[in-house]
Amino acid sequence: RRQPSRKGSMADVPHDLKQEIQRLEELFTVDTAKLKAITDHFISELQKGLSKEGGSIPMNPTWCMGFPTGHETGTFLALDMGGTNLRVCEITLPEEKGEFDIIQSKYRMPEELKSGTAEELWGYIADCLQQFIEYHHEEEKLDKIPLGFTFSYPASQDYIDHGVLQRWTKGFDIDGVEGHDVVPPFEKALEERGVPIKLTALINDTTGTLIASSYTDSEMKIGCIFGTGCNAAYMETCGNIPKLEHMKLDPNQEIAINCEWGAFDNEHKILPRTPYDIIIDKDSPRPGQQAFEKMIAGLYLGELFRLVLVDLHESKNVKFFEGQDISALQKPYSIDASVLSDIENDPYENLQETADNFKKIFNITPTKPELELIRRLTELIGTRSARLSACGVGAICKKKGYKTAHVGADGSVFNKYPHFKARGAQALKEILDWETGRDGKALGKGHDPVEIMPAEDGSGVGAALIAALTLKRVQEGKL
Ligand code: GLC
Repeated sequence: RRQPSRKGSMADVPHDLKQEIQRLEELFTVDTAKLKAITDHFISELQKGLSKEGGSIPMNPTWCMGFPTGHETGTFLALDMGGTNLRVCEITLPEEKGEFDIIQSKYRMPEELKSGTAEELWGYIADCLQQFIEYHHEEEKLDKIPLGFTFSYPASQDYIDHGVLQRWTKGFDIDGVEGHDVVPPFEKALEERGVPIKLTALINDTTGTLIASSYTDSEMKIGCIFGTGCNAAYMETCGNIPKLEHMKLDPNQEIAINCEWGAFDNEHKILPRTPYDIIIDKDSPRPGQQAFEKMIAGLYLGELFRLVLVDLHESKNVKFFEGQDISALQKPYSIDASVLSDIENDPYENLQETADNFKKIFNITPTKPELELIRRLTELIGTRSARLSACGVGAICKKKGYKTAHVGADGSVFNKYPHFKARGAQALKEILDWETGRDGKALGKGHDPVEIMPAEDGSGVGAALIAALTLKRVQEGKL
């Protein structure tokens, strides 16, 4: 949609609201100098995560050793345990690079499961897998099918088919899983049901994204997720990973690192946190964790927005939703990031859809100036998310010395939030000081030296490729 001109549009906004808009702009804006400072600190934290002492960014070795060659073949199952859905795919990799053959089913992930028991979680997942196999392989006698399980939470791995959950993220809070290997209870649930599946690789969504995207594009160097959570993976050489020194690996051998960069700045040294970010953290199931993620990921964008609106209503400095019953707005996590997307997509002239939605969802009738503040607030929250995310990408590029790179990105925020890509690209340009593109021409799509672009299906194709790479290494006696 066309971006309408704003000139003079704030003329009718009362003084107290104008002041609040200004205050919010100051709180949520991250200027170039700050972006650069954050990126520099990020580089040293990435480094710390690889050191023997460790730091707050886990930098987890994934045992996914190098990129696919394009000659991977076979049929694999892929299971994606995302925040909202469970997806099961059966993927046949082609003999020669080409179209993948995929069948898939999606299952709802009941909200109660996120704070239920471990047994319920593994039981539910095994039931879904069983249903999938029964539906697609009715009556067939099957050998165990190899599975790539995309488990997108921080896990420490000594091997690729093993993973100790470091901590739940993204609002999950299931007792008795943190600190334990998640594979044995998962396999036990499969065995109990007689499901013919063998877990071959436990992977992170970012690693899957990196591998799936590199299969079709050899310039892919980083895989990112900007969705419910936010994170990245990239390929590191073993010689650059002091914490793996004791394993005496070939220093030139590549290994994918799942950064778990959501944990960046858990010690609050550099990120410009607002009072709203502090509340989000304090009221979350894991206070003190995922400081970076809580400022930028989809799970938190709506909650940030809601906290600001409630604060404005309660503030003595401004009249906001005056005389209205805001009880519906008082429910934590009642606003999804898609509500912010819709507001940003609403034509600025009258913000009619926004007004209608506020009435429908919260039974609130905002005034015209309040609608303007609401719109500006979504822009501020969405822009901050994109700009801070770019610091992570910039930090990996600077650390690795990439002058050019493709970055494969996936996730609801990247794919659906208006202007997220353009805002991220602009921030990256400021961070990396580009004046012209890789071809010496003006910057712009297809010209930026580092370009963040839509990824291939990481938790489907990526998981299958990693399972195939793993089986090949087993055959070659390398594992
Ligand atoms: C959270 C998880 C991480 C995942 C990311 C995106 O940050 O801890 O493992 O990659 O969300 O889903």
